[in-house]
Amino acid sequence: MTRPDPRATARTRARYQRISGLYDLMEILPEKRYTSWREQLWAQVHGPNVLEIGVGTGKNMPFYPPGLHITAIDLTPGMLARARKRAAELTLDVDLRLGDAQALDFPDDSFDSVVATFVFCSIPDPILGLREIRRVLKPGGCLYLLEHMRSPNPSIGRVMDTLNPLVVRMMGANINRRTVENVRSAGFEVAEAANLAAGGIFKRVVACKQQ
Ligand SMILES: C[S@@+](CC[C@H](N)C(=O)[O-])C[C@H]1O[C@@H](n2cnc3c(N)ncnc32)[C@H](O)[C@@H]1O
Repeated sequence: MTRPDPRATARTRARYQRISGLYDLMEILPEKRYTSWREQLWAQVHGPNVLEIGVGTGKNMPFYPPGLHITAIDLTPGMLARARKRAAELTLDVDLRLGDAQALDFPDDSFDSVVATFVFCSIPDPILGLREIRRVLKPGGCLYLLEHMRSPNPSIGRVMDTLNPLVVRMMGANINRRTVENVRSAGFEVAEAANLAAGGIFKRVVACKQQ
């Protein structure tokens, strides 16, 4: 069994811990674009048991459909503290926990759906995280993603590869992840990979575990 790299995971946690107080401010402009994407994504999610990975400060919470039992995890205590505050403000009953997508603390076949938005750019070992998600999904259950990833345009993709080390150091996010391919490598069937913006850099992905 592959285990998460503790040093890479600690680095990711430290980066998000540093920016946790500023995250919502930093995201004000991009969030204007993301809001309708979040709404459309959550409208597709089936329950009753749903897991959100990398809940961050809880930006998806306003779009949680009523009547679902939602468990939400994040690697970073500072981000999770903000999510707790938002859940209280919205009077939502969410089971919020510290946790690592690469080593999920749930039994096999626990959830009807799993959701992650803008998380797989920063998980140190994305395929390990995706395999864990597949393990905890019930057969027939689906993973719903909003992600930015490497451009399908080869020239732009190469520029993203060149810039990636700098961007990771500055922002903590990889800009050249091949997330649709990673989802397939983790054993999912990709039901949808919809281009949302920037020539396919931003995508909505729905990927399901076979029955
Ligand atoms: C860019 S933020 C996105 C937050 C939120 N999903 C959103 O849409 O605004 C990435 C989040 O993923 C979390 N994260 C990174 N690696 C993780 C991991 N291995 N397991 C769980 N959460 C992780 C970070 O702590 C951070 O809160």
